[in-house]
Amino acid sequence: MTVFKTALGRTPRIVTTATTPRISSSISNTSALVLARLAYKQHPAMSVTTQQEAAYKRNPHSDFKAVEASRPAWDASSTFRYTQTVDPSWAFGGGANALHDSSSTSSSSSSKKHIAIDPYEPGRPAPFNYKLLISSIVPRPIGFVSTISAEGKTKNLAPFSYFNMINHDPPLFVLGFAGSLDSPKDTLRNLLDSRECTVNIISESFIEAANATSVDAPYGSSEWDVSGLTPINDCVDVKAPRVREAVFSVECRLESVREFESRATPGKKTGAMVVLEGTRFWVREDAVNEERNMVAPEVLRPMSRLGGISYGRTTEAIEIPRPVFEKDVGGAEGFEKLRKAADGTGK
Ligand SMILES: Cc1cc2nc3c(=O)[nH]c(=O)nc-3n(C[C@H](O)[C@H](O)[C@H](O)COP(=O)(O)O)c2cc1C
Repeated sequence: MTVFKTALGRTPRIVTTATTPRISSSISNTSALVLARLAYKQHPAMSVTTQQEAAYKRNPHSDFKAVEASRPAWDASSTFRYTQTVDPSWAFGGGANALHDSSSTSSSSSSKKHIAIDPYEPGRPAPFNYKLLISSIVPRPIGFVSTISAEGKTKNLAPFSYFNMINHDPPLFVLGFAGSLDSPKDTLRNLLDSRECTVNIISESFIEAANATSVDAPYGSSEWDVSGLTPINDCVDVKAPRVREAVFSVECRLESVREFESRATPGKKTGAMVVLEGTRFWVREDAVNEERNMVAPEVLRPMSRLGGISYGRTTEAIEIPRPVFEKDVGGAEGFEKLRKAADGTGK
């Protein structure tokens, strides 16, 4: 059990590590570490992150530039728009829409079988779970995190897609880091040290530069230089710069930290989660409405993370009103009708 004092000077959060390891039935399970060690033997100068990357084989293309050149150019004319939903006449109890049974879409699924996967089944290489999860838990928002060490010398900038907002009062955000607190990524190291950061949202207009900051640069070499992005030092509550090019940024203080233990290798710490508290928002003037409570997606143009080395654009949206039990479902009476209908169909 580890205790970290919060940056906000409130009661320290007690941080517990996972203590109920699932003993893997698979001793022969090839872990990411084993693969990483193999890669290290071949390339001893590589950093741990670089070794892991070699193990993940994230880039599926032997000649990435050739594959990229064979694809259509970026469609600059594709701007954000709203369409109707698939079935605007959908009614409560209606279940999946027409796409479910349509043979013309890859989402058609009524006749498709599911496969159950035990993450620790014998012989399943550990990187497989990582690759499966990052390609299925999608799209993920990306927190583009700027940190600075406590003494103010070492600046860091890197993207993290184990990222989300988990509350709004107080504004709380979560970040997940691969690796342990003993051997932290530079961002985590700075966060533990200075207990503050800015989280910036990545737009289409600087996606290449943002991706460049994920380079496995040694501690002390700033990714700001690699990216060409502009640090701006006008934050009020934190010393870490925000990204000038970002439409939306948040100044954050470290709220709590928790470390996780591997199930495949009990005793080994393999992940850390930090909760950040947002203390100030920064938004580009042309992106926010007069009431300062809504950011326009057509200005923000956010990029999200998909599996492997893929990113997603958000160019199309639909709107569906939040249903109200009495008005839309018909209250208890309407609900009972739907229940009976579902019983009849065996749903
Ligand atoms: C889009 C994207 C999302 C990423 N998400 C995460 C993440 O959620 N957790 C993590 O540990 N690494 C993640 N990475 C990898 C880190 O950005 C990378 O290890 C980086 O070098 C860390 O920088 P640092 O050591 O300067 O903190 C991601 C990389 C990219 C390109």
